[in-house]
Amino acid sequence: MICPGSFNPVTRGHVNVFERCSRLFDEVVVVVMHNAAKTYHVSAQQRVDWIERSVAHLPNVRVDACGGLLAEYAVQCGAKFIVKGVRDAADMVVETQMYYANREASQGQVDTLLLPTQEEFVYLSSSIVRDVASYGGDISAFVPPVILEQVAKAYRKG
Ligand code: PNS
Repeated sequence: MICPGSFNPVTRGHVNVFERCSRLFDEVVVVVMHNAAKTYHVSAQQRVDWIERSVAHLPNVRVDACGGLLAEYAVQCGAKFIVKGVRDAADMVVETQMYYANREASQGQVDTLLLPTQEEFVYLSSSIVRDVASYGGDISAFVPPVILEQVAKAYRKG
């Protein structure tokens, strides 16, 4: 199964989802999605590296990057499921739309499972991390300790 996302950057909430997936499935592929037409402040390779270091304790989790359509990637690698974390009703609306789109685009070959976010992470998002880090604020509760310094530096303004 695959856990796709922008992971800009990966948060402790994302890692919690990967940990739960690693208990539920034999093999988990975390996929950093990137739009080739867009320039990101932080490269896909950097985001992959941060995730790899954050999941080093999970032997059945590997990390990849994809610049195309998620449904095509899932079909090509033979994944039957996409798993996404859901924090609230707004996420539910967005993720349900993506579920329909990905099911359609994969001609029914790929289904989506939505995992409720564990309560201590419901407030957390990559955009909050970017915002706090841009002002030099403390993001230690938001991202895994092993990537803390690098993430803080990468998004700090100026
Ligand atoms: O971290 P996010 O923003 O929840 O991730 C959304 C993401 C990257 C998984 C989604 O935008 C995506 O799959 N993009 C890749 C292009 C694609 O397949 N688009 C159609 C998705 S319905």
